[in-house]
Amino acid sequence: MPDSNGSLTARDAKLIQWLSEAHAKESELEADLGAHIALTQKASYKKRLQQHLKETRDHKRRVASRIKKLGGGTPPALALPGVPSAVGEVAGKAVSAVKGQVGVARAAVTSQPETHLRNAQEELREEHVEIALYSRIVTLAEAVGDKETAQLAKAIRRDEERMAKFLDAELTRLVKELVRAEIPRDQRSTGTRARRRTTRSAGTRSRSTGTRSTSRSASSGSRARSTSRSNGSGASGTSARSTSSSRNGRSTTTGSRSSSSRSTGSRSRAASRS
Ligand SMILES: [Fe+2]
Repeated sequence: MPDSNGSLTARDAKLIQWLSEAHAKESELEADLGAHIALTQKASYKKRLQQHLKETRDHKRRVASRIKKLGGGTPPALALPGVPSAVGEVAGKAVSAVKGQVGVARAAVTSQPETHLRNAQEELREEHVEIALYSRIVTLAEAVGDKETAQLAKAIRRDEERMAKFLDAELTRLVKELVRAEIPRDQRSTGTRARRRTTRSAGTRSRSTGTRSTSRSASSGSRARSTSRSNGSGASGTSARSTSSSRNGRSTTTGSRSSSSRSTGSRSRAASRS
């Protein structure tokens, strides 16, 4: 609200400045979404974009209404000190028009899955820009005691977060679709093949473990003792040194573990001989 002299307070001028930025961003994305909807053939994705276009128009309307209540006039006629002209609605639409041309050019030179994917990535980035923008408006509004602006920014941020979550999941789906459309089947990993590979490598591991345990059980008495101590099943008297070196050996790789056990065994034998 303007003060007694009819001019804006510093608090409201700052709120209006940032809300105007949000309004320009919503205008830019309104045009972006329109372009992406026209380029998209995938029904479920198109539907969600259309839903978010409605939300975006609603955000824009509510932000404009809040700016007006704070005494800022009606965007895009808004011309506030400190608000760079590049964040006005006209500029927002101009940015979007250029991005739209890039999007159309991309659609002409890339496959449909690739186009979807690039557009979804761009939308996800923009949602995160909006989330950051509304987060700072929430913090500012709370810091200056403007509950209404804080509530509005929080509500809009929730919609942006929901859209970002959808786009995040959609990106995964689109990459999988691209793989199915563009990568020959024999160059793709399949769940079954991955499972088979896992089982096979697990089998190799258990076989090699078996070999190790056989060699251990076939070893001499003192070596067997040092192995059981290294497993923590007991240590006393002369064995204290050999236990600790076995532990050190355990922390190294499997190959050096067995040689370390053997050398520990020799040390034990040497200790018991002396
Ligand atoms: Fe959005």
